[in-house]
Amino acid sequence: MKKIQINSFEDYRQQYQESINNPEEFWGGIAENFNWHKKWDQVLDWNFDEPKVEWFKGARLNITENMLDRHLNTLGDKKAIIWEPNEPGHSPKTYTYQELYDAVCEFANALKSQGVQKGDRVCLYLPMIPQLAIAVLACARIGAIHSVVFAGFSASALADRIQDAEAKMVITSDGLRRGVKEVPLKSVVDEALENCSSVERVIVFSCLNWNIDMQEKRDIWWNDAIRNQAGPCPATSMDAEDMLFILYTSGSTGKPKGVVHSCAGYMVYTAYSFQNVYQYQPEDIYWCTADIGWITGHSYILYGPLLSGATSIMFEGIPTYPDAGRFWEIVAKYKVNQFLTAPTAIRSLMGAGDEHVEKHDLSSLKVIGSVGEPINAEAWHWYHDKVGRGQCAVVDNWWQTETGGIMISGLGNFSPQKPTYAGYPLPGIQPVLLNQDGTEIEEADVEGYLCIKAPWPSILRTTYGDHERCRVTYFSHYKGYYFTGDGAKRDADGMFRIIGRIDDVINVSGHRFGTAEIENAINEHEQVVESAVVGYPHPIKGQSIYAFVVCDDEIPEEEKARIEIKEVVAKQIGKIALPEKIQFVSGLPKTRSGKIMRRILRKVAEGDVSSLGDTSTLLDPAVVDEIVQKAL
Ligand code: PRX
Repeated sequence: MKKIQINSFEDYRQQYQESINNPEEFWGGIAENFNWHKKWDQVLDWNFDEPKVEWFKGARLNITENMLDRHLNTLGDKKAIIWEPNEPGHSPKTYTYQELYDAVCEFANALKSQGVQKGDRVCLYLPMIPQLAIAVLACARIGAIHSVVFAGFSASALADRIQDAEAKMVITSDGLRRGVKEVPLKSVVDEALENCSSVERVIVFSCLNWNIDMQEKRDIWWNDAIRNQAGPCPATSMDAEDMLFILYTSGSTGKPKGVVHSCAGYMVYTAYSFQNVYQYQPEDIYWCTADIGWITGHSYILYGPLLSGATSIMFEGIPTYPDAGRFWEIVAKYKVNQFLTAPTAIRSLMGAGDEHVEKHDLSSLKVIGSVGEPINAEAWHWYHDKVGRGQCAVVDNWWQTETGGIMISGLGNFSPQKPTYAGYPLPGIQPVLLNQDGTEIEEADVEGYLCIKAPWPSILRTTYGDHERCRVTYFSHYKGYYFTGDGAKRDADGMFRIIGRIDDVINVSGHRFGTAEIENAINEHEQVVESAVVGYPHPIKGQSIYAFVVCDDEIPEEEKARIEIKEVVAKQIGKIALPEKIQFVSGLPKTRSGKIMRRILRKVAEGDVSSLGDTSTLLDPAVVDEIVQKAL
């Protein structure tokens, strides 16, 4: 058995070397730390051509036994989850490992009695309440594949995800609380299900005590479903490579794709990366502010921490309610030791004034993390100096839905820190920078396409129902490499700095959207003929969405049309994807072959029209003059 925790930078260097020299021995040793029904016949079998990646081949396990049962004897009374409600006046709720085990077994039994079987897909559309965690683990307990959909997505986006996964069941609540707002969820599910024939059952948790419509034979209240279901639920034995979950994410083309993670590799890597990046110690209180609707919540609120026997805080609310000191109040209240949030939250709280931070005692913090988007130097320094009091390491975690776990990051307090640099790769991760023709860039400080040249245990296995899409998207750009879609640089010491997406993916407040996805939504508006969407820098959100829209007639009232277009986007995707700027144009800059020159639109959106580059291939250069003149 190999110990998981690295405890110095020298140790890191040595472990890294071992992991690269002999990945099978390295990961086999780490995997010995977990409980298996049957050990593997082979640690790794792979090729990036099909692609086919199998870790711990032949092994059998259940991930929830490693998160719950394994800890009961020693940590049964330890807090597994501390749930902090949206309303500061409401009571928090705590689940010890024993209580979480009991709740998961009870709900897993309920799922079975409602007809859910191993391999069935279950869609979760829930607020950040303990029932979301319980439902995720209950699915994993019985081998059902969970697909969590962020509760900010619209009925149409939810329906797309349910249909793609052919989910048999949806689990939701009447509604959710977010700041001062109460937002309906069940009615969104009802609308989505008008177009989803695969769903047989809907389980509804009463979160707001609303009196809502329940469809006879299809809908059942959570409390009715768990009646008489208490008691153990044997964990279903899963093959190492059985699917654990699907999580939809946006790419540069088409509809969002269902990224698939499998049981064993994801388990080993999320636990390993959590313990090393956050240097979690047995008495620590850890808090990640993400939503479980995104990969960060999956890997670093639930799976990684609970596999490690940690105490993980789950927060229902938002950073600015009731005021911009809420995060810091919670840190002080629970004496949080490790804290993880997104640059967007850091920037918005930085703008709210230092007094919100200064009035709370943050002396418990040891490691503070940033994830989801590049962190600019100003935000990094504020986070380091004010939140971390100059005494905590800032760990900048670079990774993706597809990578399952953190790939490049500082480890706890001992890695060298450099603002805006994510740092060094974790053991087992082999990042390279490629130039356009696919050769590896060896020089320092040169930007290239960030690719990974060998598999790590939590790499995505496929995109649900469409393996070819997985191959084309991630493994066909450069033969033999996983293509991340990000541009990056490496300094002379080997530290990586992530520049951002080089494809048509926009990152707004750490949320990924494909330009095509938003354009398709805008084009649903009756008067819209076509549209082109680009990202542009935004001081708080990192990036914002700028839409160039062509309509069939003169738009008499631009403001009215803008509102309507935003409504259409909210309906098709959700309010999180609203374009901030909408410019009506008479045509888009296209090449003779009909391709939109987004490069030009990006420049316009950025307000940098001094050098638009080569426009000689444009079909109608006059279009560009008009766009520049009327730029918002
Ligand atoms: O562009 C990178 C950016 O977010 C993308 C992945 O988004 P998603 O799959 O939603 O996962 C977010 C949480 C891991 C990446 O391709 N990104 C993520 N983390 C960072 C980042 N960009 C810069 N620095 C980071 N730390």
